[in-house]
Amino acid sequence: MITGAAGGIGRATAERFAAEGARVVGVDLRQHEVGALALSADLTDEAAVAELYGRIRSELGRIDVLFNNAGISPTDDASVLDTSLEAWERVQAANLRSVFLCCKHGIPHLLEGAGGSVINTASFVAVLGAATSQISYTASKGGVLALSRELGVEFARRGVRVNALCPGPVDTPLLRELYAKDPEQAARRLVHVPMGRFGRAEEIAAAALFLASDDSSFMTAQALLVDGGIAGAYTTPL
Ligand SMILES: NC(=O)c1ccc[n+]([C@@H]2O[C@H](COP(=O)([O-])OP(=O)(O)OC[C@H]3O[C@@H](n4cnc5c(N)ncnc54)[C@H](O)[C@@H]3O)[C@@H](O)[C@H]2O)c1
Repeated sequence: MITGAAGGIGRATAERFAAEGARVVGVDLRQHEVGALALSADLTDEAAVAELYGRIRSELGRIDVLFNNAGISPTDDASVLDTSLEAWERVQAANLRSVFLCCKHGIPHLLEGAGGSVINTASFVAVLGAATSQISYTASKGGVLALSRELGVEFARRGVRVNALCPGPVDTPLLRELYAKDPEQAARRLVHVPMGRFGRAEEIAAAALFLASDDSSFMTAQALLVDGGIAGAYTTPL
């Protein structure tokens, strides 16, 4: 099951997983046609999330992989000095509550089956501070990282692995919308990427595939940074 399936990273991951032979369930707030089963739901709503898994089980029989990837990054989430409580709560709900709910109601299905892999999309801002702040987004992704680590430990002996995937800036609608409004901020961020470019959604999909597959069978409670070198850099090449 892939959430945020209508978006940049979710769609690319659904395509890659399907190419590898998976039966993909795509879930998004928006109407879409991604996945063998394409569902629409608001993942901040507990009843909707519980119902979603019931439907997937009855239609496909088993659930092996959760890619909890839906999220938002609105422009009214900014410096702590300027961000309204409403914006803070909206971002926390979409980015952190949704992951909590998808794990709470999804992991039991993995435990009932042959075990499986949970991949929660965090971000490089979960491990590095940015002067161009989006305070609720950053805090929500820090929460996703800590939640994933703890779940990885809790379920380590029960066949369910849980890891956080931390992309660097990826060229998707989410980032384009943010930077189209502020090209100066985009240029400022690019300076810090050793590779000198934003990532492609397919590159994040490849990392999600690794975490979903048995190739990562000894890996749990970890964060996988796929960020063009950002987190490893002190200075970057000219
Ligand atoms: N693009 C980047 O640079 C970048 C970097 C680091 C992390 N991320 C994270 O990667 C994930 C995917 O981002 P993307 O770049 O593909 O963004 P995107 O905006 O293209 O896709 C996100 C999708 O999530 C869906 N969504 C939002 N709220 C939802 C809800 N309540 N219920 C169901 N669906 C909901 C949206 O409709 C959208 O289709 C997000 O969690 C984002 O924070 C993105």
